[in-house]
Amino acid sequence: MITYCKEKRLFRLSGKSFDYVMYVNDAGFLQFLHFGGRVGNDCDFFTAYGSTLAPNPQDRNFDMAFNEMPSEYAFFGHGDFREPTALIEREDGGLVSRFRYVSHKITAGVPVVPDMPHVRIGGDTLTVVLKDDFSDTEILLNYNVADDSDVLARNAEIINTGKSPVTLKRAFSFCTELPDDKFNVMRLHGTWGAERTPEVTPLGHGAVRLHSLRGTSSHQMNPFLGLLRRDCTEELGESYGFQLIYSGSYALTCEDGPFDTVRVQGGVNDTAFCWRLAGGERFVTPQAALCYSDGGLGKLSRSYADFLRDRVINPAYVKKRRPVVVNNWEATYFDFNNEKLFAIIDEAAKLGIDTFVLDDGWFGKRDDDTTGLGDWFVNEKKLEGGLKTVIDRCKKNGLKFGLWFEPEMVCKDSDLYRAHPEWAIHKEGVPLAESRNQLVLDFSRKEVVDHVFAVMSKVLEENDISYVKWDMNRNITENYSASLPADRQGELHHRYILGVYDLAERLTSSFPHIFFEGCASGGARFDAGMLYYFPQIWTSDNTDGYERAKIQWGTSICYPASAMSCHVSACPNHQTRRTTPFATRGAVASLGAFGYELDLSKLGAEEKELVKGQTEAYYKTAELVLSGDLYRLINPFTEDYFCEMLVSKDKKQAYVAGERLRSVPLDKNRLVRLVGLDEGKTYRIEELGLTASGATLVRHGLLLPRIAEYESWTWHIQEI
Ligand code: GLA
Repeated sequence: MITYCKEKRLFRLSGKSFDYVMYVNDAGFLQFLHFGGRVGNDCDFFTAYGSTLAPNPQDRNFDMAFNEMPSEYAFFGHGDFREPTALIEREDGGLVSRFRYVSHKITAGVPVVPDMPHVRIGGDTLTVVLKDDFSDTEILLNYNVADDSDVLARNAEIINTGKSPVTLKRAFSFCTELPDDKFNVMRLHGTWGAERTPEVTPLGHGAVRLHSLRGTSSHQMNPFLGLLRRDCTEELGESYGFQLIYSGSYALTCEDGPFDTVRVQGGVNDTAFCWRLAGGERFVTPQAALCYSDGGLGKLSRSYADFLRDRVINPAYVKKRRPVVVNNWEATYFDFNNEKLFAIIDEAAKLGIDTFVLDDGWFGKRDDDTTGLGDWFVNEKKLEGGLKTVIDRCKKNGLKFGLWFEPEMVCKDSDLYRAHPEWAIHKEGVPLAESRNQLVLDFSRKEVVDHVFAVMSKVLEENDISYVKWDMNRNITENYSASLPADRQGELHHRYILGVYDLAERLTSSFPHIFFEGCASGGARFDAGMLYYFPQIWTSDNTDGYERAKIQWGTSICYPASAMSCHVSACPNHQTRRTTPFATRGAVASLGAFGYELDLSKLGAEEKELVKGQTEAYYKTAELVLSGDLYRLINPFTEDYFCEMLVSKDKKQAYVAGERLRSVPLDKNRLVRLVGLDEGKTYRIEELGLTASGATLVRHGLLLPRIAEYESWTWHIQEI
């Protein structure tokens, strides 16, 4: 709900359990007042006592007061010496700006964000128009809130209302300013095989910047920034989240300023960025999702999970039962033929798996990673009879068929590169940095996206395919687009991701019966932007039963369990060489969209029985993964155990999966509290043959099993 107090020009944006308050101060600036728990409708109070005093135009030091003013979109070069939200360069090189309120409107529904992922449904939208005092520039600030969501979606639009062109040198999506700095900063950093590792550090003065310059949201730093009160725990205390619905090079910054307030902002990365706006043109920034929790980090995560599932991810698939797949990548790598695939397919059908996914190597002349990307036609030498033969084998076994693509890439040794070397991103005279023997196609060029759409469509039209895994295995280097003029080269990264979104939109809408899974060298593009198109994303190439628990824990900080594609793979694990029990790999994978990544035909009878049992058990809890609430019970980064729990919204059903990560001498008894249950209900725990009240399970807890290192357990819990 959005309320407006006309007299004080005060806006109150109310979500499910938070309020965001701001007003137009007497000097005409949109000033931040409150972001946090529900407050009263106290217009007079807020404008008189609730915030830093507004700059007073009569004051001799008026222009210097901006350094103290909590801004909703910070300007540059006029008394505010903190980081600006936008930098707009005019033809004469001038950058000074000062944005004042002009008007606003409140509309039902979501704002239009063309060509980019965004909040699809719900709530009301406030649009505030600001105008620069010194140039013909307008800023539109869009705020979307819904009564049933704890997330505020924001973005900005910058319009050149004059005749001469301007150049945006920074164009962030949002700015907000918390009134004190008693926070720790949380980020999800990582690398290949260790994505989204939570790290919490004290917030100090100066600016903290989380960003990616890789063309993807990256393994290294997820587009999420958390501000946690110093006493914030999993279940108690306040926290804030700032997440971008964006998949390209981004930046999120928070600046603890001279008056101990924290300015948070972010959007498209401004390093090596520019965007030319001719007279009348506008630049629409990606949306950011701001979240407040008064129930610890756990509530923040659950609010983000609900927000993404209910309002962002493709509604046709978000809560639809996911295919339980077997993928041949770790089973065969590039070395496969019909016989090898048939062996996996025949076995899969017997073990309760419903989809076979053919990974890298089925196309062009691709027998290793040096050739073929870009040539999206089947390698009949390898697959005699083409894809049809494999698909027929799947059908005969009652399985569906899925296929891997890496649409954004090209190998030098490919027909596509030979025909169109200029389509690869490159800078004449600069040696090409090859990574995994491949180059990035220039998706800022429409003809490139059109071509990839045409060749992929042909494969998808001609074959009975129900699942696509869309991969992306390298970063952008030699940033330069042959199709952009010199003064627009800084537009490449954003235009590239717009091209990716364009292709994703065209493919998902042209083939609505196909389920798309995202992937980027494991989890290098695990973000809300990709989730808009692809309801699940391959979480990491690291499927080790120990490491995966940590990766999934970190990912769950701001993404739902249903978004995480999680597979059981063979041991010793291909990434870490570690051996963990089959059951443990299954228990960890069962906390997301479940599947297998191994050669089923090589499993022994006992393991095959385990697969059967795991798939059967998974069908019982799949609904919880899709729409339940996740509670993180024991932190694998700080404890010797890992334990998470999924609870249905009506609290009638729950599922716990845990693992012993490290054995210690003199093992002691340990209890775990089952936080999410209804204290008033009585539950049966299947594996323990035990009945107990929700109150006891929540307030007292259950003894953890005394098991050896890497062993695991699951508890299926049902109200009786
Ligand atoms: C990436 C993916 C893997 C697999 C390979 C194929 O690494 O993350 O799952 O698809 O590419 O080349």
